[in-house]
Amino acid sequence: MKLFDVYPLFDVNIVKGKGCRVWDDKGVEYLDLYGGHAVISIGHAHPHYVESISRQVGTLGFYSNSVVNTLQQQLAERLGKASGYEDYSLFLINSGAEANENALKLASFHTGRTRIISFSKAFHGRTSLAVEATDNPKIIAPINANGHVTYLPLNDIEAMQAELAKGDVCAVIIEGIQGVGGIRIPSSKFLHALRKACTKYATVLIMDEIQSGYGRTGKFFAHQHSGIRPDMITVAKGIGNGFPMAGLLISPLFIPLYGQLGTTFGGNHLACSAALAVLDVFEQEHLVENAAKVGEYLLEQLKQVKGIKEVRGKGLMIGLEFEEPIKELRLRLLHEQHVFTGASGTNVLRLLPPLCLSIEEANEFINKLNKVL
Ligand SMILES: Cc1ncc(COP(=O)(O)O)c(C=O)c1O
Repeated sequence: MKLFDVYPLFDVNIVKGKGCRVWDDKGVEYLDLYGGHAVISIGHAHPHYVESISRQVGTLGFYSNSVVNTLQQQLAERLGKASGYEDYSLFLINSGAEANENALKLASFHTGRTRIISFSKAFHGRTSLAVEATDNPKIIAPINANGHVTYLPLNDIEAMQAELAKGDVCAVIIEGIQGVGGIRIPSSKFLHALRKACTKYATVLIMDEIQSGYGRTGKFFAHQHSGIRPDMITVAKGIGNGFPMAGLLISPLFIPLYGQLGTTFGGNHLACSAALAVLDVFEQEHLVENAAKVGEYLLEQLKQVKGIKEVRGKGLMIGLEFEEPIKELRLRLLHEQHVFTGASGTNVLRLLPPLCLSIEEANEFINKLNKVL
């Protein structure tokens, strides 16, 4: 059997990782400014993480959601404290798309409505409703195109208010900072107006923090830079540092009903031990603060680099927009300088390093970038 060939691959076989570095099968060392698509939060192969998961798999890897799981309870309590959402409830699933799927479903159960508002360039995942809310016709199959979603321009307060005033919108789903869309930041003014309009028209506000959350921007969630509180928050990627896991944080507005949501694998013992180990390291190594400090430094340094059209971002979620397509630049960074980076569209280089990136590693990246520009 062959693999279903949907991923354009770099010809590199990564076999080992440590902190912000990975190594290929030939022993070549790379600086990881991409974190496997924002997934590696505490760094590759962190010893505490390795020890926690190893111990858990040797004790109990899995049992179903029909029994008490104290690891889930611990995670809910710890995540509530770490994020400032202690009064919210937690529902655990396995991937970002699944988190958004459940958020939209719960919003529809709650409001009895079916219309969704999303934004231009939004990315919310590749399953049913999540992909329908994603502004990319190439990945929406005919079976997903069910007319639930209206896409509006990001930061257009008037357009948003006019649409919500129709009174039939189930949910607005918006990324804390658009990632796949090219590191585009919703303005604080827009988020406050959105919060107000959602409350006025009884529309559920869902904040997708799958890429921008979990400390990446220097606060636990990107929307916390503006001070608003959404009705639901979706998280994935960094929550498990590579262990497939996701969560949905749900405001006390929503009353849980037995059987309304459910999953076989979500919140299993092994996944919870990974997520708890991640939160331990967040606390011990002050990773949210590190993302703020190193991110601010990196952003400032990048603004001095010649040849970049625009530098955008917050913390360690950074986009570098170039006049020219970046395909060649990214390949040279990888093969000549041994640095992993990401891309958004054709012209934006995307940086999503592990949150433990040091100032020295940030400087190393700047030097390497200068060499290929
Ligand atoms: C903002 C956002 N939402 C949702 C998703 C989907 O997550 P997953 O690939 O885990 O389903 C992603 C993945 O890149 C994302 O960046």
